[in-house]
Amino acid sequence: MSMLDRWMDELALIGGGGNGVNRFAWTPELMSACQWLVDRLREIGLTSEIDAAGNVVGQWIPADGDSSRGKAVLVGSHLDTVPNGGRFDGTLGVLSALEAIRRLKEEGFRPHRPLWIAAFNDEEGARFDTSMFGSTAFVGDDLTSLKDRVDVHGVRLDDAMAQRGFDFAEIPKASRIDEIGCYLEMHIEQGPRMQAMHLDTAVVSAIVGIAGYRVALRGQTNHAGTTPMAERQDALAGASRVVLALRDAALAAGDVTANVGRIEVRPGGTNVVPGEAVFFIDIRTANPDKFTTLDGTVRDTVASIAADERLNVEVTSTYAHAPVPMDAALQDLLAHEMTAQGLAWTSLTSGAGHDAQVLAQHVPTGMLFVPSDGGISHAPQEFTSPEQREPGVRVLTNAVRTLLLRESAGRDSARPNDTT
Ligand code: GLV
Ligand code: MN
Ligand code: MN
Repeated sequence: MSMLDRWMDELALIGGGGNGVNRFAWTPELMSACQWLVDRLREIGLTSEIDAAGNVVGQWIPADGDSSRGKAVLVGSHLDTVPNGGRFDGTLGVLSALEAIRRLKEEGFRPHRPLWIAAFNDEEGARFDTSMFGSTAFVGDDLTSLKDRVDVHGVRLDDAMAQRGFDFAEIPKASRIDEIGCYLEMHIEQGPRMQAMHLDTAVVSAIVGIAGYRVALRGQTNHAGTTPMAERQDALAGASRVVLALRDAALAAGDVTANVGRIEVRPGGTNVVPGEAVFFIDIRTANPDKFTTLDGTVRDTVASIAADERLNVEVTSTYAHAPVPMDAALQDLLAHEMTAQGLAWTSLTSGAGHDAQVLAQHVPTGMLFVPSDGGISHAPQEFTSPEQREPGVRVLTNAVRTLLLRESAGRDSARPNDTT
């Protein structure tokens, strides 16, 4: 069994078991996974820390005399999961970065500039609806507005951090983007396209824009048998209409996805008209023009259905990440490696969100995909075999080697037609 396969198995046991993997922000399970990574980084000779935002950041600094010390090549992904998630989403990206470093060390490679590895905290936002929390802190964006977020048990984000010895007020200390020259991330595709096209790897051309909302609809709790049908103020009926209206709008648009994956209905009695429904919308498009109009579509749809059903409505934005192209020069570099290795590859947009889209707002960023068996992701059945992983790990290792030989005093330069 290879080192990477052994690491994958070990991490799957942390927060894993019966029904998928559960590692959420600031829980003992995710903190154990982070500590596990710190231990592995030490074993391969890297220094590391868990920063003020809960990111694991490891560093391979060139020995004195090796070269100039330019801005770092950063490589990584995330270790947190969705509820009952898979073993590969994020984890494979972190562990393939670890494996790339292990291989480079084993071959005696001497970097000309620093190499950093990151496992960003809370990419999924599963606990507090705070997606890409750690990478957002890393690039120095303000997270103050998230302080009052609560999880399903009513635990506040700042209290959850304090329970693990972290201080919400210190999050800005995690901002290190000024020390980074470029970012690379390998990930599973999380969809069916690569398998359908019999591809080994893919270069990501752009990442979809994502907007999230919490919607609360409130009507009147009442008796299920005595309240006339035409007079009900049924919050769940209103929520159901919103779910279907957004699905139909996305189907009609063709390049938009809309999802409601979580709903809470109160008071929750079989013979009670539900007076309150709280649900969460996730809506996406890779089209930058359409992304700017999604917010209006969601708010108008909810408002008109709420008015029609005589419900009070509250819509809160939970997250918003703009669509972003990947750096053209890094796409070229990855494509060059794939071609040199004789791989079957193509360029694909990513329908999943990634920390890379946060990093890409600040530094040249590249991503590559390996296939997802059956196109299944965010589920326990997520699977990418060792044979499907290896081409991606080789491409990542070679791309990192190439970047580490460049002496970069500043940002890695992009191809002239690059739009990032
Ligand atoms: C993360 O996996 C996302 O696409 O939401
Ligand atoms: Mn995910
Ligand atoms: Mn992911």
